[in-house]
Amino acid sequence: MFGFKACAVLKTIMKGLVFLFTINILVMSIQTTGSAQQSPAELLNKIDRLSKEIEAQVIEWRRDFHQHPELSNQEYRTAGIVADHLRGLGMIVQTGIAKTGVTGILKGPEDGPVIALRADMDALPITEETGLPFASTVTATVNGETVGVMHACGHDVHTSSLMGVATVLSSVRDQLPGTVLFIFQPAEEGAFEYDIWGARQMVAEGVLEDPRPDAIFGMHVWPITTGTIGYTTGAIMASVDNFSIKVFGKGGHAAAPWQTTDPVIVAAQIVTGLQTLVSRNAELTKGAAVVSVGSICGGTRHNIIPDEVELLGTIRTHNEETRQLIHERLNELVTNTADAYGASAEVTIDRLYPAVINNANLVNDMLPVIMHSTGRENVKEMDPLMIAEDFAYYANEIPGMFYTLGIIPPDHTGPVEPIHSPRFDVDESAIKISVRTMSYLAVEALFRFSK
Ligand code: NI
Repeated sequence: MFGFKACAVLKTIMKGLVFLFTINILVMSIQTTGSAQQSPAELLNKIDRLSKEIEAQVIEWRRDFHQHPELSNQEYRTAGIVADHLRGLGMIVQTGIAKTGVTGILKGPEDGPVIALRADMDALPITEETGLPFASTVTATVNGETVGVMHACGHDVHTSSLMGVATVLSSVRDQLPGTVLFIFQPAEEGAFEYDIWGARQMVAEGVLEDPRPDAIFGMHVWPITTGTIGYTTGAIMASVDNFSIKVFGKGGHAAAPWQTTDPVIVAAQIVTGLQTLVSRNAELTKGAAVVSVGSICGGTRHNIIPDEVELLGTIRTHNEETRQLIHERLNELVTNTADAYGASAEVTIDRLYPAVINNANLVNDMLPVIMHSTGRENVKEMDPLMIAEDFAYYANEIPGMFYTLGIIPPDHTGPVEPIHSPRFDVDESAIKISVRTMSYLAVEALFRFSK
């Protein structure tokens, strides 16, 4: 019995050993195939440590930027600090791109892929109400009025984080299998006195040309719980185009409307008709779309039918086809509606930003390293947003990934202030996650794109 049992046990052990051996071979083969494409664990550990070491410094930079915000295309002080920092790290630095933009090139020991990382530097014309010890008291003149200036969109966090990433990646430069291009961009919020600005102008001035990046990453702080990273595998932000419609009728006494061509009635029909562009024309299964009228202006008093009414509105879409379709249908609908009532109309559409479309393959490749940074359960696929981001101009040129970074403390109670609120605030414990995640992404992408 014993002999039999011993034999059976031995067989079981042998089977187990064969099984383990097979598994081991399999694991080794996965590791071998993977090792050419994935960041070495030891390098990620080092980056994690360096991100913690730089945390206090990044928070200090962030508070300094927060206290000294600058409006779009006026980011001279911010750009100066960024450029000095990048030069101090021994990078090849270029300044004055798209007015105040800065780039830094960090080269590893050998040629290889190029990965771009982007931060935006501008603040908003908003008077800060956070009561923070480093709250902004800066003012500026906008359209002849004195207004406060505030980093109400978190670009202070974006810029300081990317400076931290620059420090971290410089410290591991010898282990980088390629080049990292740091892009600090002005005027993401728009500089409407210019024809083009921000990312579009940076691209026009060749920021993606020499070296040509293989991929680009960008991030926006977002009012979700600290530690959470949000992503999509397609559209993440919408295209934005503004329209103005002028309806020309024939004014007269409101008591005798038959003597007039009433542009108020025509404008009302147009507003109603515009609702059908999304509900009846846009192929909504391919992406969301919005057409909103934000302003109607015409007339002076209750008993006068005016000559003219002006409508202002915005168009948001998640793909170029829908965007184009809505532009065409809006023109047709407005001019034909006006015509039907004996009036005429003039349509102007200002094409602003395209939709931000994340490259699905890039995102899927990067998800494991993001999960490594912040925990699998904290990486969340999000619904695409209808706001816009000029990161779109980079992602139109090369594979791009734009993601959101949670900045609301887990124990937060009460209302959450959205971006662009005068009370918008950021949980600074998100900053080391911000630095680590973007550093991981750069390194992982360098390894993935390495031949
Ligand atoms: Ni922003």
